[in-house]
Amino acid sequence: MIKRLWAKLGKATLPSADSEAFDNVPRHVAIIMDGNGRWAKNRGLPRMAGHHSGMKTVKRITMAAERIGVKYLTLYAFSTENWKRPRAEVDFLMKLPEQFLEVELKDLMANNVQVRMMGYREDLPPHTLKAVEEAIERTAKNTGLVLNFALNYGSRKEMLEAIKEIAIDVKRGELAPEAIDDRLMHSRLLTSDIPDPDLLIRTSGELRLSNFMLWQLAYSELWFTDVYWPEFTEEHFHEAIQEYRRRARRYGGL
Ligand code: IPE
Ligand code: IPE
Ligand code: MG
Repeated sequence: MIKRLWAKLGKATLPSADSEAFDNVPRHVAIIMDGNGRWAKNRGLPRMAGHHSGMKTVKRITMAAERIGVKYLTLYAFSTENWKRPRAEVDFLMKLPEQFLEVELKDLMANNVQVRMMGYREDLPPHTLKAVEEAIERTAKNTGLVLNFALNYGSRKEMLEAIKEIAIDVKRGELAPEAIDDRLMHSRLLTSDIPDPDLLIRTSGELRLSNFMLWQLAYSELWFTDVYWPEFTEEHFHEAIQEYRRRARRYGGL
């Protein structure tokens, strides 16, 4: 099964039979799932139809990531700026986590997937939060892929909150300014318990970060595609992974 999959991935050399992991698969993949609205519009459908269809892609790509041994998959589902959208669209988007989890939680459990959420819980409607918290609780002991939903997430808010916390500690005399380093900052972010993304994918042809993981993406490999999220397939995902595997990461060194 593993060999077949790897062959399907293309020119890659197969790892030796006893090697327990694929060679150079990104440990953490983050995705800006974009283009739902335009996908729908191109088909003469309401934007909501695009969001609905995008949920199927979430399932597809979660399973694809799990199969090739990605450990963390972070999906940008709703930004702190997306509240600016018309009320009806926001309401619809806030119903998607429930819909998604109602249908897919069973399968996620069966595949040992652990659901997490990264974002600000306080502004979410209670029904949205309840569904998410339930999924987090029920999958907490799973040890496979970590499926991390960025929901009401904004990177600037995340960094400002961290800085405020740090400033308070300094003011109280509990922290010396000299002790503020990369590690400390990392420990105050919403990603304190997960590694930085190795690979960032954005669909729909937009070439920007839209306030997503600005600190954590400092040395991530970036991969963009014109494909809209509802039509993003496992093959597109493999294309991104293959490209990642060919890149040399230097982190400023040689
Ligand atoms: C991404 O698709 C989903 C969310 C931002 C919630 P969009 O809704 O941004 O789709 P476009 O970019 O308008 O096509
Ligand atoms: C980023 O997409 C947010 C999500 C995918 C959830 P947007 O569609 O909101 O980003 P902009 O407005 O095009 O920058
Ligand atoms: Mg968009």
